[in-house]
Amino acid sequence: MTAESDCYTAAIGAGVDPSGTPWAELDPALLQTKRSSIKWARYPADVLPMFVAEMDFAVAPEIRAALHRAVDASDIGYVDSPVSYAEAFSDFVADRWNWQLPREYVRLTTDVATGVVEALRLAPKGQQGRLVLSTPCYPGFFEMLQELPFEVAEVPLLLGREARAHLDKHGENDQPVAELVEAAGNPATLNLAAIEHEFEAGAAAFILCNPHNPHGVPFSSAELTSLAKLAAAHDVFVVSDEIHAPLTHHGATFTPFAPIAAETGALSVTVTSASKGWNLAGAKCASIVAADDRAHRLLGGLPPEVLTRTSILGVHAGIAAFTEARDWLDRAVTQIQANQRLFVALATAQLPSVGYAPGSAGYLAWLDLRSASLGDTPAERLLQEARIGLNDGKHFGTGGLGFARLNLACAPDTIVHGVERIASLVSKAAAQTGDQA
Ligand SMILES: Cc1ncc(COP(=O)(O)O)c(C=O)c1O
Repeated sequence: MTAESDCYTAAIGAGVDPSGTPWAELDPALLQTKRSSIKWARYPADVLPMFVAEMDFAVAPEIRAALHRAVDASDIGYVDSPVSYAEAFSDFVADRWNWQLPREYVRLTTDVATGVVEALRLAPKGQQGRLVLSTPCYPGFFEMLQELPFEVAEVPLLLGREARAHLDKHGENDQPVAELVEAAGNPATLNLAAIEHEFEAGAAAFILCNPHNPHGVPFSSAELTSLAKLAAAHDVFVVSDEIHAPLTHHGATFTPFAPIAAETGALSVTVTSASKGWNLAGAKCASIVAADDRAHRLLGGLPPEVLTRTSILGVHAGIAAFTEARDWLDRAVTQIQANQRLFVALATAQLPSVGYAPGSAGYLAWLDLRSASLGDTPAERLLQEARIGLNDGKHFGTGGLGFARLNLACAPDTIVHGVERIASLVSKAAAQTGDQA
């Protein structure tokens, strides 16, 4: 038995996805005929879509039932109070991450993108200054920032061995070294020295993406504490996007930023949603959460429409997710981890020139194709010649060229076929490069 077949057998499991749907029903050829979201509409049917952060798994039965109940009761009007959602959300975060928060700190909004933009409009230093972003990062941030006048300062993350060396050095000061070094086991860490430099130069705001997209890294509490202290010292407003947090892998630790911000005096709000963890992007409901009373007062400046544009169906779906569909989430994470192990086994055997450092949150794999002879924009060649849709690293900011992002939240066979497609082009490109040499 090879590692590949062992991992394949484990990923197939009982033959069903986290909702109990047989894998055969998640065959991309079938999904193409049934779903119309971007994952299925963007490319022709012969392209295997492994881009965009949508899961192929069927939506949790508990959420589907909640949506059916709302539709059957014709409860599709405007949202009013966030109270039931706030209750469901605050119970969930208290149980999962020991984050205790007053319910009034939770405000509703349409989606995380809207929440990030609307929160940033309230930056106390105004929107004319610099906004710091750790890259490579979720391309949507660059799109959101087109709506605001901030000047964007990209601070590249520290990767692999570079991260370990940085954290060892940082630990000589006042950081708990053991925790920092443990964090360096992650594929990426925050470059605190470079962030400090930007904060000293007068930055107005920082977007934290925790767990980080695309690396799938939940930042350590030591790193987040250092960040919060820097933000407090330099009056930098931190907007923490924690949309991937529910998908933190079993055995890994997610640390919410808000309690740390509250303790250190950093001004911060968290924007999050059930939309990534339970695959509900189209339901349009997210929350903007104050870290403390000061942030709560700041959020009092949000226009009422930021709340009322939320979809009531998203509210119903979110409540069902946080209360009734926790077991589904646990099964989804187990499946994602099995799929990740399958991908590692397949890539080790078939893609030796492709780098991949597995993350410990979410289902996105950040592939280093710089040695794969596919050029700076590998996803473009992979789309044209291998008929597989990935997200090209060029959209992820500094550090993205030569990389591509692949989605592992699918049937195991989709991963097998995806790796085959990538491998066939990579070996063809290597042969062409060899011929030219
Ligand atoms: C880090 C991050 N933030 C925000 C979003 C978008 O969330 P929403 O659809 O709620 O705007 C995504 C989507 O993939 C994401 O990965």
